[in-house]
Amino acid sequence: MALSQPIQAVDQTMSKRTVLTGITTTGRPHLGNYVGAIKPAIEASHKDGVQAFYFLADYHALIKCRDPQVVNQSTLEIAATWLALGLDTDKAIFYRQSDIPEISELTWLLTCITAKGLMNRAHAYKAAVQDNIEAGEDPDHAIVMGLFSYPILMAADILMFKATEVPVGRDQVQHLEMARDIGQRFNHLFGNHFALPEAVVDDNVAVLPGRDGRKMSKSYNNTIPLWLPEKQLRKSIMKIVTNSLEPGESKQTEGSALFSIYSAFASADQREQMKQAYAEGIGWGAAKQQCFELINAEISTARQVYEELIAEPAKIESRLQEGALRAREVAAPFMRQLRDAVGIRPLG
Ligand code: TRP
Repeated sequence: MALSQPIQAVDQTMSKRTVLTGITTTGRPHLGNYVGAIKPAIEASHKDGVQAFYFLADYHALIKCRDPQVVNQSTLEIAATWLALGLDTDKAIFYRQSDIPEISELTWLLTCITAKGLMNRAHAYKAAVQDNIEAGEDPDHAIVMGLFSYPILMAADILMFKATEVPVGRDQVQHLEMARDIGQRFNHLFGNHFALPEAVVDDNVAVLPGRDGRKMSKSYNNTIPLWLPEKQLRKSIMKIVTNSLEPGESKQTEGSALFSIYSAFASADQREQMKQAYAEGIGWGAAKQQCFELINAEISTARQVYEELIAEPAKIESRLQEGALRAREVAAPFMRQLRDAVGIRPLG
């Protein structure tokens, strides 16, 4: 088929569902990342008829993080986490965003057709402006173009691989709508190149509360890191905020961060039993001990693998390079097609 002819939504998406998601490489992986994103993504990658693309969004990390060591270390830890938890890299394509130069290239093509007004409406940008206004600053004080254009880079991540399903948290749904808008506009202008992605927000995947009961998040400083050594994991779980009810006094499961965290790892039976134990007045210390044992049992084998992996960064690097090769097998020809479509092609 001649390159100048738009190719109909790819075989890739006609025969298979294409699932894609990225994790920004700032900070250490915590239980919330594990329960809310990594675990379901690994499970999805084992399903038949699914091509998964999972990547480390290190370009996104640069928007918020100016510490090269943090970006690098976090990339290592997050990559090791996915591998230790059993991501099958023969099936899923696992790569680092910055290893795919075509993503930056596509970002520019998309930047050139994205309405500034669309970006003005992005929640993350609007929140930053609002904070400035409230602080009496200039509205754009300390706001970088990376933050403003963040949704375009994310659209390039998604559209490049013709992802049909993008599992994300609620806070990312607007970005998915923007990716669709941007893809649609490009298709309208230059031919039907892109598949339009859908956000997949799984309501069963609970948002894990942190130690203080708010959403577990690095920005609230309430996380329980995933790979703490056993003793420290126990300590961290012991610090989950409860109330002053004594052992023997009946306790509510509703609104209990400890119960939610326990539930995220428990079978239906275990959850029922814990509910019963709350009603019968289990002491907080005992409930925390059970929570620790449950979580530790689930992750202790993977923890060992993690520790072995993290000690050999070169091995992780080579797994990522293999992933990048596979990703570029898709991205490079597609990028040639897109360049051609916009008129960037050999003369004559
Ligand atoms: N912005 C996402 C987050 O912070 C990470 C991300 C970057 C992403 N590119 C993506 C998620 C593409 C899904 C698809 O959570």
